[in-house]
Amino acid sequence: MNNIVIVGLQWGDEGKGKIVDYLSENADVVVRFQGGNNAGHTIVVDDEVYKLNLLPSAVLRRGKISVIGNGVALDSHALISEIGSLKVKGMDVNPNNLMVSESCPLILSIHKDKEKLLEDLNVNHKIGTTNKGIGPCYEDKVGRRAIRLCDLENVDELNKKVDTLLNYHNALRRGLSYQVVKKEEMLREIKEVSKKILPYKKPLWRILDDFVKKGKRIIFEGAQGTFLDIDHGTYPFVTSSNTVASQAVIGSGLSSSAYVIGVAKAYTTRVGNGPFPTEQKNEVGNNLSTIGKEVGTVSNRRRRCGWFDAVLVRQAVQLSGVSSIVLTKLDILDSFDTIKVCTGYKYSGEIYDYLPASHSIQEELEPIYEEFPGWKENTQGKRSVKELPLNLMKYMRRVEELVGVPIHLISTSPKREDVIELRDVKFSEGALVS
Ligand code: IMP
Repeated sequence: MNNIVIVGLQWGDEGKGKIVDYLSENADVVVRFQGGNNAGHTIVVDDEVYKLNLLPSAVLRRGKISVIGNGVALDSHALISEIGSLKVKGMDVNPNNLMVSESCPLILSIHKDKEKLLEDLNVNHKIGTTNKGIGPCYEDKVGRRAIRLCDLENVDELNKKVDTLLNYHNALRRGLSYQVVKKEEMLREIKEVSKKILPYKKPLWRILDDFVKKGKRIIFEGAQGTFLDIDHGTYPFVTSSNTVASQAVIGSGLSSSAYVIGVAKAYTTRVGNGPFPTEQKNEVGNNLSTIGKEVGTVSNRRRRCGWFDAVLVRQAVQLSGVSSIVLTKLDILDSFDTIKVCTGYKYSGEIYDYLPASHSIQEELEPIYEEFPGWKENTQGKRSVKELPLNLMKYMRRVEELVGVPIHLISTSPKREDVIELRDVKFSEGALVS
């Protein structure tokens, strides 16, 4: 088994980008398999801050291959612009080191229009999306009317597909008294990027199969987090793709097993609306937000903050078959006198040791907390386990017990090098060992 899947165990923004970047030093290929440019990965290399949305984190390392799988909703304009901004910083992204699945559905401006129109109409359950057109693009994919990357090559086929797509979208737009889109406008929008994006188009499933046969080491980079999963998350306050590890197979076409690593923050954050049992709408939440610089990379919105929820993380571990976890941003808790961890919920006289699916129950859950004394010591940038305070070690041990799997790595700052390996998990000769 030469593959690793990395998924977020909360509501996204767990710090997956940095971990993928760290682990990709020993990998050959990094694959994005769901989501799109709604994701935001911040990675600091030699004091330079890189913010990636659509490109896999491997683009920051020379000699690695980056792959965008069929499960990704592809905004080609955004991709070309991201490639351009990396070129300015001296990174050469080209069809030899970036490959995009020919089956990716394309995000077009009609999708962003529809997202806004529907969010405005949605009185009771405003999602607070990133406005990147992700949901409407996936709707068209499932509705079997999406334009896919492979359609850009064949003008006749593209013309027919644009007609079908516009029939649907213009009917909706007319119904909402919104201006219709002319066929020429949509074709112009598509043609603007066609020439630039087509060289990246590949039959990815086949290339990945070949990589596996050649023993290449592949990392699958998840975006968002488990509780934003369309099936397993806090529905309807979720994204429109599956974010759990099994999506790595569907969203890339690679049928192979993998070692799954989950990434969790030492506290919890959420951007956008929806249930959040351990949210702290008080000084604790403000401190976590300020010290942790909790502002969304994509939408610039302030993230909601709260205590670590071990019930959620344990559920995420089970949903994705996670073997070990990475804990990030422990240093943000350095100044706290007391640290709390949620170990269960109370609702209507009952105790829950999992997150029930009903939205109305999720909103009413009362967290049960276990308290820990803080370590009151600076741990930012630490690189050795010997430098870690005893109270922090005790906190981590209890987290391991509660979530049911070991912590193998912690991250102590946004910088690439600031990590501590507690247990060895690395690619080895034909096998992944932990
Ligand atoms: P969408 O993915 O833009 O449709 O947004 C749906 C929900 O997912 C909103 O609450 C967003 O804030 C949230 N979301 C989407 N992508 C991310 C991410 O990368 N990190 C954190 N939240 C996200």
